[in-house]
Amino acid sequence: MDGRGAGQKIGFIGLCTTNLSRNRNMYSGEKVIIIDFGGQYTHLIARRCRELGVYSEIVSNEIKAIDIQSLENVKAIIFSGGPKSVYQDDAPSIDLDLLQLNIPLLGICYGHQLIAKLMGGEVKRSEKAEYGRVLIRIKARSKLFQDLPESFRVWMSHGDIIEKPPPGFTITSETHNGFIASIENDQQKIYSIQFHPEVKHTENGLLILKNFLRNIAGFKDVWKPMNRIEEMMKEINSIVGPEDKVICGVSGGIDSITTATILNKAIGNRLHVVFIDHGLLRKGEVEEVLNTLKNLNIQNVHFIDASNLFLSKLKGVHDPEQKRKIIGEIFIRLFEDVARKISGVKFLAQGTIYPDRVESGATGRGTDLIKSHHNVAGLPSGLKLVLIEPLRDLYKDEVREVAVQLGVPASIVERHPFPGPGLAVRIIGEVTPEKLRICRDANAILEEEIRKANLYDKVWQAFVVVTDSKWIGVKGDARKEGYIVVIRMVTSEDAMTADWYPLNPDLLDLISRRITNEIDEVVMVTYAVTSKPPATIEPC
Ligand code: XMP
Repeated sequence: MDGRGAGQKIGFIGLCTTNLSRNRNMYSGEKVIIIDFGGQYTHLIARRCRELGVYSEIVSNEIKAIDIQSLENVKAIIFSGGPKSVYQDDAPSIDLDLLQLNIPLLGICYGHQLIAKLMGGEVKRSEKAEYGRVLIRIKARSKLFQDLPESFRVWMSHGDIIEKPPPGFTITSETHNGFIASIENDQQKIYSIQFHPEVKHTENGLLILKNFLRNIAGFKDVWKPMNRIEEMMKEINSIVGPEDKVICGVSGGIDSITTATILNKAIGNRLHVVFIDHGLLRKGEVEEVLNTLKNLNIQNVHFIDASNLFLSKLKGVHDPEQKRKIIGEIFIRLFEDVARKISGVKFLAQGTIYPDRVESGATGRGTDLIKSHHNVAGLPSGLKLVLIEPLRDLYKDEVREVAVQLGVPASIVERHPFPGPGLAVRIIGEVTPEKLRICRDANAILEEEIRKANLYDKVWQAFVVVTDSKWIGVKGDARKEGYIVVIRMVTSEDAMTADWYPLNPDLLDLISRRITNEIDEVVMVTYAVTSKPPATIEPC
């Protein structure tokens, strides 16, 4: 299991010594385990389960049946989709004992084909692949399809089909082309569907998942992110002794402020918050964060203005991964300096959330590294503090719920996510004082205008990127080379995928004019019209 070793419990507090090994305790209540075969929608499955009030965890396909048995309260298992074909040599498989656990199992897409293949059915590459929206018809009564119409549209995304179901399995639905869309063995509690119920384009998708979780697997609990607050506080108190102190870095974003707030409630003045100005924050952000910490009654706040140090180390650095690593390392070094000055500091708290771990390759073997988010990837190997990450299993919207419950002000809760390395990842190429000023000023204009138009809360993120490219401009009578800046505005559910936002052309024109008029060095404003995938949200 992602390098932690099979059988190890996974939860939210970990020891960070020479590497990132984490000794975690998984949430103790009822849960569904999602086995990841590298599918692009694996997180969507996990999120949909949580939307239905069922706690979900994603694990690698290398997990052993015995490890699942050792976990508390596993009431269901889901096999995710995946990019491979089951008959490829390197196709991911599972410990076969997983099929004998007698825990209700739902296979989706690749998971569906894998179940068929492993249990004696036949899977073939289809001559006539069915992608996108496909009409299916129910063929046999199934608990999975309870309260569903006879026929409805689903989202398919695979070229393989089950030609012959395994012995003992019933075909429960077919596509309009006569291909098998779902099979099941109700006695063995194994259900398996070719389409993606987690994708919005599947009509009744949420109802299918609900039928599986509530009716078939019998989930009773209603999991809510805020239910975890008490548990998080208990766990923090169980590891942080009465004389121990915790150091927590805050950036001003909701994740770190919420982490600090939970710790403040759990251990009061044994918490030492460190706020480092790396010189890569937005306009007015330093004052705003300091005020917020004051209003949250956090007693020990150590503010360090290290902007000169960061900017000097970033001088001449163009590569984004290099920038992230440098920023991460300076951060940790400064923390360690502060920690050494406070006697009894044993713990470092971070606002790492679930998607941070995944995109840094910390979950699921099928998931490639996209970018190393500095929270996860940039920790130096010699760190002698124990890592506490209370939010590590939560998605962003769940963190927001927790934050509201904890009394974090709306200005922080509603704020768009802002990357830890700050404007360094929104400035392409070298970070210079000039590009930083342009980025801050242009961003402030964009934010002001979209707030006025009541759009701020409607999008996931909206920001300005300063590129390394120039464009010839005409300002006054003179021709002058100036910067090209990009406006990026996206909607998203969890940042794993995102759609570019179709901004009204009049508003776009207003913003563009303001930027070129008010910032002398900018002569061209462009709008990013690529979704994620293929592009990531941040430019680098
Ligand atoms: P990408 O650009 O990978 O971003 O599509 C997904 C989400 O993560 C944020 N992001 C970061 N957050 N450190 C962070 O703390 C980083 O290095 C980083 N890079 C991206 C991004 O703003 C988006 O919400």
